[in-house]
Parts: sequence; structure tokens; C-alpha cells
Amino acid sequence: MTRHLLSLQGLDDRQILDLLDRAAGFANVRGHGRRLEGRIVCCAFLEPSTRTRLSFEAAAHRLGARVIGFSDARTTSAAKGERLEDTMRVLGGYADLVVLRTPETGGAARGAAVSKVPVVNAGDGSGEHPTQTLVDLHTMRAHFGRIEGLRVAVVGDLTHGRTVHSLVPALRRLGAKPLAVPAAGLGLPDALADGVPVVDLETAASEAHVLYVTRVQEERFPDPAAAQAARGHVRVDRELLERTGSKAVVLHPLPRVDEVAADVDGLAAAKYFEQARNGVAVRMAVLASLLEAGS
Ligand code: NCD
Repeated sequence: MTRHLLSLQGLDDRQILDLLDRAAGFANVRGHGRRLEGRIVCCAFLEPSTRTRLSFEAAAHRLGARVIGFSDARTTSAAKGERLEDTMRVLGGYADLVVLRTPETGGAARGAAVSKVPVVNAGDGSGEHPTQTLVDLHTMRAHFGRIEGLRVAVVGDLTHGRTVHSLVPALRRLGAKPLAVPAAGLGLPDALADGVPVVDLETAASEAHVLYVTRVQEERFPDPAAAQAARGHVRVDRELLERTGSKAVVLHPLPRVDEVAADVDGLAAAKYFEQARNGVAVRMAVLASLLEAGS
């Protein structure tokens, strides 16, 4: 395992699969409370989060570590104009590992460059979100028993969605076949689009093993009206799944706005809350790997 986890691109396939195996070993999150005893994890969130921050905190607690941190940039010295580099130098003196979320693409790498302790990228602007991808892969593997050969349709705002930006290259490396269903004009960035077929939602619903639905990332749009216009363009509901005879499992990194209708929630296909629950075991694997390597 590398010192920081900024992108899955920095890991080889074996290291990714090892992390997933390790996450599977933590499926029962209880009983590991001495593993990281005496360690301190800092959750430094400069952007809103529910699942990522709290599942990292739960994971740290489950392993016996203690947690410090913040969840609102306005309560930190960032609000006084402190540079990220200075914040990171200071946090490294307080904690053994920093889980960092920044609104800026590349923010995690910038923070890691000066950090004396491991940094985990918990989402950097429209950049990447590697631990969400591990959660996604873990959920697929738990359901299908494999990743290789799965057709995974990524649906929604593929331009700004960092979860998709981390997931698509990982799927390709592990032998799955991503398909793209972009919301109005919000296709994959050029660097990722090559070799990923664009299909409509009906085709994806009938042919894919997984519909990975994402929201329009409103906060990344310079013009809120453009985000508004893109919303509602692709929407997965019960009628679509029934009409297309879909056998797909529906995943979503959450939060959901209106791109997966509530009438999907009761279907066996709906796996997004299970996916969110898997966040704890996966982040236990990440914390244990990084902190045990450094002990
Ligand atoms: C995602 C994120 O923050 O990128 N949320 C998450 O971590 N589960 C997805 C999103 O905000 O749409």
C-alpha cells in the first residue's frame, strides 16, 4: 500500500483487490477494536459530506482509533485565509492520518505534497473519490462475486462527478465494461471517454448488470440555471425498469436528489443503501492498510 491514497491509479490491480478482500474481511465491523488503539485519525472536510465523513469516523472508531476533525470550512482558519498547505502541516502534528475533502480539484494532492502523515482523498472537487470507488467495487463484488465482465452503466453528470471519474478507469482495469449515459451534454471528460460507448437509458437498463446513477453536481456549475436544466434529464424509476425488463442492480453514491425515483427503493434491484453501509468496512480496510503499514 502506498503512503497516501489519492487515486486508485496509484495502486496496481493486486493492491486494489487486496483492499477489497480486506474490506470483505471486515464485513462484520465488530470485534476489531484494538487494531488501531492509540492512533488518531483527522477528518478534515472543507466541503459538505454525510456518508464519507461519518463512515470514516465509524471505521476509525470500530478499529479503536480516536477521531478529531472538522466538517465545515467556515469554522476553520480556512475562513481566515489560511492556505491548505499550512493547515495540512499543522494537522500532521496532531493526527496519524488525515482524511481530506476539498472543493478544489487536485486539493488532496496539494495537501499530501506537504503532509508528514498519510492523506486519504475523500473527494477533491471534480477530480476523484477513490474510497467511494472501493465501496462501489466492493458492493458489486459482494453481489455478483466478480467485477470482471460486468457491464456497468454510469448515468448522470459524468462531467463533474468525481465518483464516476475514479470508478470508470478502475472498472476498465479490472475487466468490467463501462457504458456512459450522460445527462444533457454532461459526458465523460475526454481523458476517460475513449472506448466507453454512449448509450441511452433504455438500452442501459436492459443490457447492463449495474446502473450506477449520479446526481447533477449543481455546486460545480458556474451557472445554476444550466444545472437546473440538466436535472430530470435522466431518471431511473420503477416504470423504466419494468418496461425494459431490466435485471440491473441500481447503485448510487448518494446523496440522491431526483435521479432515482423513490418507487425504486422497495425493489430488490435497489442496492444503494447497502452500498452506503458497506462504506464502513471498506474504510476500515483503508485505514488499517495505511496505518498498519506506517507502524
Ligand atoms: C459523492 C461525492 O461527494 O462526490 N458523495 C459521496 O461521497 N457518497 C457524490 C455526490 O456528492 O453526488
